[in-house]
Amino acid sequence: MMQHARLSEQPVQPSFEPGHRSPELSVIVPTFNEAPNVELVVGALVAALRGIDWEVIFVDDDSSDGTANVVRLIARHDGRVRCIRRIGRRGLAGATIEGMLSSSAPVIAIMDGDMQHDVSLLPEMLRRIRAGDDLVIASRFCHAGSAVGGLSRTRLGGSRVAIRLTRTFLHINVSDPMSGFFAIRRPAFEALAPRLSTQGFKILMDILASTPRPLRTSEMPLHFRARQHGVSKLDNLVAAEYLSLLLAKLTGDVLSLRFVLFALIGGSGVVVHLATLKMALALGWTFSLAQMASAYVAMTGNFFLNNILTYRDRRLKGWQLISGLTSFWIVCSIGVIANVGAAQLVHEQASRWWLAGLAGASLGAVFNYVATSMFTWRAR
Ligand code: GDD
Ligand code: MN
Repeated sequence: MMQHARLSEQPVQPSFEPGHRSPELSVIVPTFNEAPNVELVVGALVAALRGIDWEVIFVDDDSSDGTANVVRLIARHDGRVRCIRRIGRRGLAGATIEGMLSSSAPVIAIMDGDMQHDVSLLPEMLRRIRAGDDLVIASRFCHAGSAVGGLSRTRLGGSRVAIRLTRTFLHINVSDPMSGFFAIRRPAFEALAPRLSTQGFKILMDILASTPRPLRTSEMPLHFRARQHGVSKLDNLVAAEYLSLLLAKLTGDVLSLRFVLFALIGGSGVVVHLATLKMALALGWTFSLAQMASAYVAMTGNFFLNNILTYRDRRLKGWQLISGLTSFWIVCSIGVIANVGAAQLVHEQASRWWLAGLAGASLGAVFNYVATSMFTWRAR
């Protein structure tokens, strides 16, 4: 009951000092090196949102170009502008979620901080949520929407494939589940926030896949424009992140996004191992020496891949790479012992080689995953 009372959006008591109006709409703008765009974004919001009580919250991951400073300079003169500066963390989804959680407005909108999104859609998005929608998506792919201005041909092709996969596997039937521009009723967001992944780019898809109850959703055509200044932060790794999020959601979050990435990289390590083994044997090494060397070559490859992809938000750099790699080797060596032990146990009981092998490999993977997340890529 208590929880219900807290989740309902009725004010608990009248405001302490009447006259201080709170915003009806919070616009959340994640930024990473967008300094030259900030003023343009605020200007566009001011023009588009006349007659609406709004605020904008920039969530900046400590950009080196001083984005946060630019926001604060503007904020000194306009109380509707706020800034959250995150230190030691990276990631579009995490930044967006943090910004959304800092809002108390009934409606939240998310958009890019580079002028690619047409802010003149915001009043209509707000109107639709007032009228009962939970979620309004600005879509590049619905009737009359377009993406050609803002996406390269490769990106466009990639988006299409991703949308098809999302539809087929997650049964999400919106035309643009990858859009970075949408508005959501805050209580609906609060209810699903604990289920969201802070990794990756695909916050809207995660919302659609994680919501405990269906969201009343509508779409508006968006003409996705070219960036005003700077470059896109979306790289090829984002595709791998997307596929892992898809897998994590398919398993009903039994497997986390991070574990899926870790396991996929582990699988690729087997290929590296076998290739190295073949080479070492061809060079005339003894089998046990060749096998040992291949194991460490594969581990080293896995370490760097995990550092780039699985733990991109906690990426080790410089000297940290040496201690990180060492702890990774140690953990994975213990993992092999756990792997072999478990396999032997299963083999004695069930005497099916593949079941024993699989059990050992799974236990090894889980052990390595848990232990390296504690020792190699500790959360700061
Ligand atoms: N705080 C923070 N941290 N912000 C980030 C980060 C980060 O690690 N990475 C990117 N951003 C900010 C950018 O500064 C920008 O304001 C916004 O997030 C979107 O990033 P872009 O780099 O502009 O992405 P895009 O335009 O290539 O991708 C667009 O299309 C994708 C689908 O194709 C965005 O709308 C994405 O949200 C969308 O998924
Ligand atoms: Mn963009």
